[in-house]
Amino acid sequence: MSADDARVALVTGASRGIGALIARTLAERGWNLTVSARQPEALQGFAHALAADTGRRIVAVAADMSDEAAVEQLAREHVDAFGRTDALVLNAGMGAIGRFAEFPLRRLDKLYAVNVRSAYQLVQQLLPTMRATGGLSSKGARVIAMASMTGISAEPLNSAYGATKAALISLCETLTVEEYEHGVSGVAVCPGYVATDMTSGLADTIAPTEMITARDVADQTVALTELERTVVVPRLLLTRPGPNLWHA
Ligand SMILES: NC(=O)c1ccc[n+]([C@@H]2O[C@H](COP(=O)([O-])OP(=O)(O)OC[C@H]3O[C@@H](n4cnc5c(N)ncnc54)[C@H](OP(=O)(O)O)[C@@H]3O)[C@@H](O)[C@H]2O)c1
Repeated sequence: MSADDARVALVTGASRGIGALIARTLAERGWNLTVSARQPEALQGFAHALAADTGRRIVAVAADMSDEAAVEQLAREHVDAFGRTDALVLNAGMGAIGRFAEFPLRRLDKLYAVNVRSAYQLVQQLLPTMRATGGLSSKGARVIAMASMTGISAEPLNSAYGATKAALISLCETLTVEEYEHGVSGVAVCPGYVATDMTSGLADTIAPTEMITARDVADQTVALTELERTVVVPRLLLTRPGPNLWHA
């Protein structure tokens, strides 16, 4: 257990966007964190600022989610640093659009590695610590995966990205039915378009002011960590106003 007995999370993709707001909100609520992203300088800068602002223990580990050895090292450093895991926030993700007919298979493989395989690997590696934590805490331990509305409802140009997010949703559901006895459950957060760097290229089609805010996604995600272990939330859907409810 960590020295001050605070709750502990590992947040991937934490240096900006939705992940940075989730990490900051958790730290402001007293959590200690491992934060991860690829670019070490931006990650270290974020971690230092967060530690200074909140007084919490923030460990930064740079890792590319498409690199199996780096993901393994991330999990190991997290466990060595804290010895407990109340929440694993699988937020790092790669976006890519293109017509099904022409989408390069190599790009599909990369999307799958970053968005799904790394998540699978992190869950496998952290399950022992999550079971130990979940068994002792009234709130259990949660795997929170940042999926997408495209994993639920078809969106043109998103055959590959949407498939990876559908896989994440499935992964969370199976985890819950296999691990409930240990107090571990999974939840897939499924937002429509969120105004972040990832969607900046869509600004001509959808104004950022019409997108969901990263603040809203982060607040709803962190609220999931306040639930008791007796409640399971398989999916959290956040869509946008419009004539079609099932859209990104
Ligand atoms: N924005 C949307 O409309 C939207 C909607 C639904 C779901 N989502 C999902 O929400 C999650 C966060 O998206 P966002 O919009 O906040 O993205 P973002 O602003 O682009 O931030 C992405 C974060 O992930 C890190 N990252 C990117 N590729 C990575 C890799 N290969 N390995 C490790 N870290 C990586 C980035 O840091 P580095 O570049 O330093 O690695 C950064 O910290 C993603 O899973 C995304 O698919 C987004």
